Amino acid sequence: MKTFAQFLPQHLAQHGIPAELGSVLESVVSACCDISGKVRLGALAGVLGAAGTGNIQGEDQKKLDVIANDILIKVLKNNQNVAGLASEEEDTFVACNGNGRYLVLFDPLDGSSNIDVNISVGTIFSILAKSEGALATESFLQSGRAQAGSGYVLYGPQTQLVFTLKHGVFVFTLDENGVFVLTQEQPQVPVATKEFAINMSNQRHWLPPVQQYVAELLAGETGVRGKNYNMRWVASMVAEIHRILMRGGVFMYPQDTRDLSKPGKLRLMYEANPMSLILEQAGGAAGDAAQAMLDIQPTGLHQRVAVFMGSREEVEYVERLHRV
Ligand code: AHG
Ligand code: MN
Ligand code: MN
Repeated sequence: MKTFAQFLPQHLAQHGIPAELGSVLESVVSACCDISGKVRLGALAGVLGAAGTGNIQGEDQKKLDVIANDILIKVLKNNQNVAGLASEEEDTFVACNGNGRYLVLFDPLDGSSNIDVNISVGTIFSILAKSEGALATESFLQSGRAQAGSGYVLYGPQTQLVFTLKHGVFVFTLDENGVFVLTQEQPQVPVATKEFAINMSNQRHWLPPVQQYVAELLAGETGVRGKNYNMRWVASMVAEIHRILMRGGVFMYPQDTRDLSKPGKLRLMYEANPMSLILEQAGGAAGDAAQAMLDIQPTGLHQRVAVFMGSREEVEYVERLHRV
């Protein structure tokens, strides 16, 4: 059984990946080990409940949103290779080390609504190379395709680390000693699926292509798709994407009619791009229904986006419905 500490240098050497990038990943992973400890203890560590504050996106923060954010920032600031970071919970980017060559973007705690009820949550991260010149918001506004790596840690029944440095996807499980051990190499998202994930309570707000798509799935064997579909909605993107990575499925958070100036709920830089890179590396697909997620040119750190991702057959199908 290979630990993360044994696997990483071998993986870097095998693919000529810079050691500095490996060190940034190590920092993210060590911060997530700390966060895992807090999540696991819950009320015993006094970390549940509301923080009484809000983030720039107008969302109420939970104590663990703030704690996880602080842990990541502290660890990353201590890594000389990190030039700057951007977080879902911070108004603007945070400058770190002048000589650093990498930028880290993260959703410190994904699935906040699940923290207090002991359902899986996670941390999502994206790593970019910094271009030459002074650090500015623009330094972060790179397309998902430009990511040097991405991944997530799922705090679930097992704490699992999943990442890619663009040479396949690797899955590690946290053992009883707090060590991540390699448990799966190169998982592949099945091309076809019979499972979908969408928040059905928003149905009346959906636009026609999503109405049609979900109606077809719900029609099951008797409809045009000719098979029965099952539905899951955890309300933690990390948990949904992990399920899809393990057994296929399609995950959607579409734009809807409530506010047409908002392209969706999820964030391109902290959620959609890192997850899309993982899924593409594992043979899945991801987009906003108009284009591949990873090709979108970002315009803002906290930009939101419509999300359709998972098994290739379903993502391509729903994209086709948007084109007609
Ligand atoms: P966050 O907790 O970081 O704000 O993200 C929550 C996201 C995502 O994880 C999940 O898929 C979705 O919001 C759930 O939204 P609903 O509560 O609308 O179902
Ligand atoms: Mn989130
Ligand atoms: Mn979050």
